[in-house]
Amino acid sequence: MEMRILGRSGVHVSALCLGTMTFANEADEATSRDIIDRFLDAGGNFIDTADAYQRGGSEEIIGKALEGRRDSIVLATKGRVPMGGDPNQGGASRRHLIRALEDSLRRLRTDHIDLYQVHWPDPHVPLEESLQTLDDMVRSGKVRYAGLSNFLGSDLTRAFLQCERYGWAPIVSHQPQYSLVSREIEHETLSLCAANGCAVLPWSPLGGGILTGKYKGAAALPADTRLGDNEAQAQRRLTEFNLSVATEVTRVAAEIGKSAAQVALNWVLHRRGVTAPIIGARNLTQLDDNLGAQGWQLEPEHVTALERISRQPLPYPQNMYRMFNIPVGP
Ligand SMILES: NC(=O)c1ccc[n+]([C@@H]2O[C@H](COP(=O)([O-])OP(=O)(O)OC[C@H]3O[C@@H](n4cnc5c(N)ncnc54)[C@H](OP(=O)(O)O)[C@@H]3O)[C@@H](O)[C@H]2O)c1
Repeated sequence: MEMRILGRSGVHVSALCLGTMTFANEADEATSRDIIDRFLDAGGNFIDTADAYQRGGSEEIIGKALEGRRDSIVLATKGRVPMGGDPNQGGASRRHLIRALEDSLRRLRTDHIDLYQVHWPDPHVPLEESLQTLDDMVRSGKVRYAGLSNFLGSDLTRAFLQCERYGWAPIVSHQPQYSLVSREIEHETLSLCAANGCAVLPWSPLGGGILTGKYKGAAALPADTRLGDNEAQAQRRLTEFNLSVATEVTRVAAEIGKSAAQVALNWVLHRRGVTAPIIGARNLTQLDDNLGAQGWQLEPEHVTALERISRQPLPYPQNMYRMFNIPVGP
């Protein structure tokens, strides 16, 4: 598998990162372990999880599966999401993040996390407190590198500057949503991260599954699918716009003899500023399909067609920037 560099860290990671949100959920333990084995056999070395996935269930499976081969894996996890009813069992405070890290280390059966990420911003905690805590984690040896997820461009900028100002461990990665049906990070985050040596690790690169082309509308939702099983997600994802993008992805896929999932993932994989999309699968068939997204590149005419159908109006002031030929995004 193609390898890339994780931001300014110099660490080599596979261009596809294995997401594990389905573990201990749609994928039982045996299937999850098969998914890990197949991913590693295909040359992948980068695995992303979070304490929040099935309240530690995903981390527990990964911990068992990686015993004896932990050293060859770049292991990423996240903390911040509530892990219980007590208000202090969540958040990006020093108190909670340290506790969350200790719990993740135990479940993952390891003495260090390669990339520890704050899962979401926390409006109740000064950003500097979270950044300094990440720095302490790195200095303690329990964490190798620090990352953030779901942060605004303005907060990311502050994080980059404050880490530099105080000599704290730099933020080497950001994990935002990004796909052909969710291109918001092109307005700011992609170029901001590139300029600061920060890797971008897109989540939901298939828009939660819609870009596989398996959804035709709200009327006939396939069973045993994320949108078929979750009305709120179906309502949010099954918009006319998203379905029209999925139709175009399917058309391009048929033209070039690839699956729709491979086309949608290939597009994300080759966007400037993207380091490694995080792929999700509930079984080996989906994983195999998704692994086929790398090792080739879409023709420019197909990229143009996909970007035309998925383009959304620029917000202000990006639209003014564009008007005056000031670069916006990648
Ligand atoms: N930082 C964050 O806030 C955040 C948020 C979300 C996710 N993540 C990370 O990103 C990873 C990926 O996110 P995601 O699962 O939303 O990604 P996604 O690729 O947009 O959606 C994955 C889902 O699409 C369906 N699917 C995948 N491949 C398929 C294929 N080849 N054919 C048909 N259906 C297919 C499966 O769902 P069904 O079979 O149920 O349809 C699968 O669970 C997660 O595992 C997690 O590690 C992070």
